[in-house]
Amino acid sequence: MCPMTDAAPDHRTPNSTVAALAADGSRSTEDESVRLLRRSQLPPHEAERLIRAVTGASRAEVVGGILLDRRSADEFRRLAARRLAGEPLQYLEGTVQFGPLTLEVDRRVLIPRPETEQLWELAMQLLPRGSSIVVDMGTGSGCLALAIKHERPDATVLATDISLEAVAVARNNAARLDLDVEFRHGNRLAALDPSLAGSVTMIVTNPPYIPEDEWAQLPREIREHEPKVALVVGDGLDMYRYLANDARGWLAPGGILVTEIGAGQGEAVHRLFAGRGWKPRVSIDWTGRDRFLTARKRT
Ligand SMILES: C[S@@+](CC[C@H](N)C(=O)[O-])C[C@H]1O[C@@H](n2cnc3c(N)ncnc32)[C@H](O)[C@@H]1O
Repeated sequence: MCPMTDAAPDHRTPNSTVAALAADGSRSTEDESVRLLRRSQLPPHEAERLIRAVTGASRAEVVGGILLDRRSADEFRRLAARRLAGEPLQYLEGTVQFGPLTLEVDRRVLIPRPETEQLWELAMQLLPRGSSIVVDMGTGSGCLALAIKHERPDATVLATDISLEAVAVARNNAARLDLDVEFRHGNRLAALDPSLAGSVTMIVTNPPYIPEDEWAQLPREIREHEPKVALVVGDGLDMYRYLANDARGWLAPGGILVTEIGAGQGEAVHRLFAGRGWKPRVSIDWTGRDRFLTARKRT
């Protein structure tokens, strides 16, 4: 019996893969990881990540050389072909790292970006210790809400999304990670229970902020695979206009809004909040571009 073809190995378990390979006398060096890396038309770091995704092996094992069972090697070739056709690597891997969490992602949700990890760090700096209520508007994979709950188990964390599919992905991530976050399907903050009005400590959000007329200029990889509803909205400022008008009603006195913004939107978004009962401040990301707005509710 060939353990690699008969035993339906779990290809995400590194030990089973490596052990099964060691037990196989009839394997072909065609499917040796270093050879697959060399022959793939993908950049080596991408091929390596896909081999790791199908085998569960570590980076050191893949670059050091392991044999893949036939099923894993075929799966790698299928994923590599999809990658070459333009699918985002993270959807093919099925997971993404966000802060301390490994989240499952697929084309139902936006792939969390590194800037949004920085938004989470900013939110963590600003969230007061002790009991609090945090709302993540437009949660997608659940990345912000779940990472906040992970850091602050004593916070009550709620999240909304207009996409039922995104809510399903986020709920699944919460269940896998055993994090108690309440996900609400619905429009913006109106998806929340009205009884929360005036009691929220922090609203955190990475809303869609690309203007509708810029959609066609986005890279194909994004346009053809990531959900348009996650990225594009009106003239790009619609969500900020809404937040400037409506978010105060949800916040407790002294409560704070922490939002991601587009690199060219700092001035315009600041203007929307200034003089409307907010103390707004724009801050930059690691690349030095405007990327975040924090706005405290004036009491
Ligand atoms: C830029 S994505 C952010 C997803 C996730 N928070 C992240 O940072 O990866 C925006 C999210 O807002 C959701 N969304 C768009 N319009 C919405 C609306 N009117 N109400 C609630 N959620 C909305 C989208 O479905 C998407 O999941």
